Amino acid sequence: MTWEIERFLEIKNSRLHIDGVDTVELAREHGTPLFVYSESRIRHNIERLKKAASFIDRPLKLCYAAKAMSTLGILRAVKDAGSDIEVNSGGELWKALKVGFAGEEINYNGNSKEIWELELAISNDVYAIQVDSLYELSLIEETAKRLGKKANVSLRMVPEIKTGTHSGLQTALVTSKFGMMPDEAFHAFAKYKDSPHLNLNGIHLHIGSQLPESQAYVDAFRMLTDSMMRIFDATGIKLKHINLGGGFPVNYLRDGLHKNEFPPEQREMFSADFEPADAVSEAWNEARQFARDCEAEHLFDELTLLLEPGRSIIADAGICLTTVRNQKSRPVPTTDHRPPTTDHWLLTDAGFNILLSMETYKWYYHLISAKRADDAHDTPYKLAGPLCDGGDVYFDHEGHGRLPDHRLLPADMKPGDILALLNCGAYSLAQASQYNGRFLPPVVLINKNGEPELIRRRDDLKDLIASDL
Ligand SMILES: Cc1ncc(COP(=O)(O)O)c(C=O)c1O
Repeated sequence: MTWEIERFLEIKNSRLHIDGVDTVELAREHGTPLFVYSESRIRHNIERLKKAASFIDRPLKLCYAAKAMSTLGILRAVKDAGSDIEVNSGGELWKALKVGFAGEEINYNGNSKEIWELELAISNDVYAIQVDSLYELSLIEETAKRLGKKANVSLRMVPEIKTGTHSGLQTALVTSKFGMMPDEAFHAFAKYKDSPHLNLNGIHLHIGSQLPESQAYVDAFRMLTDSMMRIFDATGIKLKHINLGGGFPVNYLRDGLHKNEFPPEQREMFSADFEPADAVSEAWNEARQFARDCEAEHLFDELTLLLEPGRSIIADAGICLTTVRNQKSRPVPTTDHRPPTTDHWLLTDAGFNILLSMETYKWYYHLISAKRADDAHDTPYKLAGPLCDGGDVYFDHEGHGRLPDHRLLPADMKPGDILALLNCGAYSLAQASQYNGRFLPPVVLINKNGEPELIRRRDDLKDLIASDL
């Protein structure tokens, strides 16, 4: 099968195996819905990103974007694989500290930070607080002063780079909610350069997630380089780091099953596929050449390059197992005189409460039968989740064609069958809710020795009311 990956996702005895472990057995043992992650794949993805270091002659600091998935067992695996971490709230920061990341290994983002969050970040001497606005910078200075500390900061800029990703994942446009205008940042460097409570160490941007085009990194790096030069000219500050954000894509259409059913932009985004190291190397070389042309190459002398990838580390390392719980057939009326056709519906236990992007962004996750993984997946079904919500479906229900009309599985699927949704390790459990009184699912990590470990238990009834008074 086109989607198989040797020693990771394989078919054995007709069944889907992940890191050599039978997914049907996992579903039997732990129930469904169930997330299963591969530690070996996480390590592979981190190594793949770290290759960028060999193309640049300065240190590379890789910070896993915890927002993509922050169950402690996953954070531990990421740390063990040698990555630092990027967090987005006091909560994620607390989790990072809990699994043992040191302050200098933590990069703190966020566009609406509370004082307790700033206090936690400053008192733990995080590597950088990415500053979202001039107002926030003044709060950080005040907080650091009160704590008798000097906060490490990096200013987040909005570079005005449009990409072909989903509109909800664009973060680099002036119309987006993130960051400050470059002129505001230059003004801030001038104003705060002698502050005893701020280390103005860097600049930051994040262009968006699931970027289909590597050119965006070239544009972003050029903008950062231009900014470094302007900051140096105006203030004499040589930055210690620049942060290129995350955004490296994952190919969600490796199955090829529905490729021709997507509108071209959607198809291009879902099937985006380029080597992060190549994109970084190209962007780095162009930026350096630009600096050389402007006689400003010395600005690279002490520079560290930061990356904050989430999706490209964790998305394809995780799958979701779900069980068909119900079925029905429904006539589909036709508008002409032909007899109505019949839709076969399969209703699963995995809804958008655990795969939110399926509803908000119409995200496509490849679906296969876990038990009959090598059977032809050529029978169309209407697939839907368990939620009391008409949008809880795995197909296009809006008539906009952003998802296929039907999902393809082997013939004769029925209740009790186990299905696997692939590539759903990122932005899934991290965004999950107990909507409809549903339990948050358990997570199994196949550890680097190939042994399945339960790293999160399934919620129980008490969890549904744990915070209710
Ligand atoms: C500031 C920042 N950094 C990093 C990321 C991670 O992006 P991705 O998961 O696409 O690599 C995000 C997510 O959108 C982000 O907002």
